[in-house]
Amino acid sequence: MHAVTGLLTSLLASSALARSLGGIYNRRQSNGTEYAVKEPPLTTPWTYEVGTDPWPEYPRPQLQRSEWKNLNGVWRYRNASSLGDVESPPFGAIFPQEVLVPSCLESGLSGLQGQNVTYSWLSTTFSVPHDWSGERVLLNFAAVDYEATVFVNGQRAGFHRGGYFAFTVDVTQYLSSNSTNELLVFVHDPTDSGDYVIPVGKQTLSPSHIFYRPCTGIWQTVWIESAPADYIAHLDLNANADGDVTVTVFSSSEDPNPVTVEIREKHSTDVLASEEGIAGSPIEFHVPHVDLWSPDSPTLYDVVVKLDEDKIHSYTGFRTYSKGEVDGIQRPLTNGEFIFQFGTLDQGYWPDGLYTPPSLEAMVFDLKVLKKLGFNMVRKHIKVETALFYKACDELGLFVIQDMPSLKPTTPNAEQQVEFERQLELLINQQKHFPSISTWVIYNEGWGQITDIYPEFRLTDRVRKLDPYRLIDATSGWHDHGAGDIHDNHHYANPQCGSPFYSILSTPYDPKRIGFQGEFGGIGHNVSIEHLWNVQEAISTINQTYEVNESLDAWNYRAHKLLVELTEQTDMFACSGGVWTQTTDVEGEVNGLLTYDRRVLRPDVEQWKRDIDGLYDAAGRRGGKGRGRSRKRGGGVVEL
Ligand SMILES: *[C@@H]1O[C@H](CO)[C@@H](O)[C@H](O)[C@H]1NC(C)=O
Ligand SMILES: *[C@@H]1O[C@H](CO)[C@@H](O)[C@H](O)[C@H]1NC(C)=O
Ligand SMILES: *[C@@H]1O[C@H](CO)[C@@H](O)[C@H](O)[C@H]1NC(C)=O
Ligand SMILES: *[C@@H]1O[C@H](CO)[C@@H](O)[C@H](O)[C@H]1NC(C)=O
Ligand SMILES: *[C@@H]1O[C@H](CO)[C@@H](O)[C@H](O)[C@H]1NC(C)=O
Ligand SMILES: *[C@@H]1O[C@H](CO)[C@@H](O)[C@H](O)[C@H]1NC(C)=O
Ligand SMILES: *[C@@H]1O[C@H](CO)[C@@H](O)[C@H](O)[C@H]1NC(C)=O
Repeated sequence: MHAVTGLLTSLLASSALARSLGGIYNRRQSNGTEYAVKEPPLTTPWTYEVGTDPWPEYPRPQLQRSEWKNLNGVWRYRNASSLGDVESPPFGAIFPQEVLVPSCLESGLSGLQGQNVTYSWLSTTFSVPHDWSGERVLLNFAAVDYEATVFVNGQRAGFHRGGYFAFTVDVTQYLSSNSTNELLVFVHDPTDSGDYVIPVGKQTLSPSHIFYRPCTGIWQTVWIESAPADYIAHLDLNANADGDVTVTVFSSSEDPNPVTVEIREKHSTDVLASEEGIAGSPIEFHVPHVDLWSPDSPTLYDVVVKLDEDKIHSYTGFRTYSKGEVDGIQRPLTNGEFIFQFGTLDQGYWPDGLYTPPSLEAMVFDLKVLKKLGFNMVRKHIKVETALFYKACDELGLFVIQDMPSLKPTTPNAEQQVEFERQLELLINQQKHFPSISTWVIYNEGWGQITDIYPEFRLTDRVRKLDPYRLIDATSGWHDHGAGDIHDNHHYANPQCGSPFYSILSTPYDPKRIGFQGEFGGIGHNVSIEHLWNVQEAISTINQTYEVNESLDAWNYRAHKLLVELTEQTDMFACSGGVWTQTTDVEGEVNGLLTYDRRVLRPDVEQWKRDIDGLYDAAGRRGGKGRGRSRKRGGGVVEL
């Protein structure tokens, strides 16, 4: 058994002390109204460490203000029964239950573990620090699934639709003159019920095998911050491998405010370049002699932006993603060089928090395991994570292939399609800051993809206009009609990557595009009940796994065979990268590198490292960057 390898032990050891302390504190007796974790069907090493001060980190590293206050913690909760309830907000009421924010209302960490929580009220109070007087007070939600109506001190202050996107409400005018403000949020989340066709990813009200328990509510951090009257509302920044920076600073006001952008050495006040301009207009400048960002050498630089009285901190990495011919074959290029991208299907589900990882440490644990095994990429699968996830990928050196959260597998009507496209734009504009994102995926396996009019061509153009700096994988798997930069086959339990052979639901390699294996592997290995999502409906779908091997040695043998097959296709055909299914088990799926509880690591670490290095070596034989030919070592190498 590779169950508790040295790798896993050392990664988990740092949590042990905090866990033993946290357990005593957090398992306090509840009288029925006080918050406590509701025992989920499976825990992780972090479940009882979370406590009542979750996610204390500043949640928006790409646009960071110094004056802020976290509103995460224990809030109060009441069920609602219809959309009409939003018209009669229960101001001043004390709701009967406590709930942890941020969390999914369906998760054990929420303290509720609710089901079919379509309509909900959540409330808390907050005070504004005295020294913020005279400033604007901005209330920020990093993500609420699916619609949020926000009330402050009895007045409707804002509304937002879309479960994966941050929004800001300027609440200055609603604040009370005394110290306590009442914050009330009405949440509506239909998930996949009835005729609703909305971006949900893998969430469903009726979980079965590859579709899972849904997430409703405030599932990422809530915080307030102070800003001057005219403040930086959004930053659009790209830094290329040639040292060219393009940045647009968006102001909260229409005024043509002067702005200054500085690029600094990381954690330093040394200014390498500085440029002035006007809010709302692109500013372009050059930074000489920069160290480039790549997975082997993930160098980042600090950025400081000033607009009038406002000043924020950000960061960037210099790199260029493009598609180009290497030895006669179209390849994904990073800084002009073909780097084979090998990663996992990374769904970001947790048995205790569902969409919300129990902590930053837990979230980064998954990424460190991947990095240690030799992966240089994650495919963030039909979910969008907290900005801190992308920052971790930027820092560790992991490419991110970012999927648009898909609609349920059905055909949207015209209105639903318009809303899908609006949210696709929100995704690109919100996430394009992060240097590690190499590729956008518009459709996964045809889900919600209208197949007779090929909308992926039009959407590819639209995404390209919003972000000309990334590759576009228009259709990952199934209905490929030639759109985008990448020809992406999904073929489980044996790859068909850039290969002339193909089968049902896949097509022969298209030499005009990059050959890519967007999903493969998926081989399973059942585990004992203490590592399984202990829900009978899920356990009885385990037999739907493509292939299940009874022993871990057999599972590793099969994995080796599949990785060798991909290596051979890299040597013989036009394979430029692949995605192994998957980082962890999820509910009734037992095909993870890690079990759902993150307590068992299935790979034979040395064998996997050799096999993954073999892929980079094969790419090296085809004109790409092989293993050990990196310009610079260190930085991205995780020491354990
Ligand atoms: C239960 O908890 C609530 C809220 O903390 C408190 O107001 C109440 O007095 C408690 N009831 C009992 C019986 O302890
Ligand atoms: C909310 O109310 C519905 C309908 O009354 C009920 O089925 C559901 O269990 C409630 N959920 C919670 C978390 O109280
Ligand atoms: C403070 O203001 C809020 C709303 O404006 C009000 O509900 C509350 O009663 C006030 N509290 C005090 C102590 O004045
Ligand atoms: C929740 O809704 C789904 C879909 O409508 C239904 O199948 C399921 O029985 C419901 N669960 C509960 C506990 O009401
Ligand atoms: C997987 O293991 C669980 C518990 O160990 C067992 O109940 C279930 O039947 C197994 N399923 C398969 C397909 O082996
Ligand atoms: C999987 O197991 C369930 C019950 O545990 C059974 O109803 C179903 O037919 C099985 N499916 C396959 C593909 O063997
Ligand atoms: C693993 O399981 C699959 C399907 O159950 C079977 O075809 C294959 O031979 C097994 N491999 C080994 C090495 O046991």
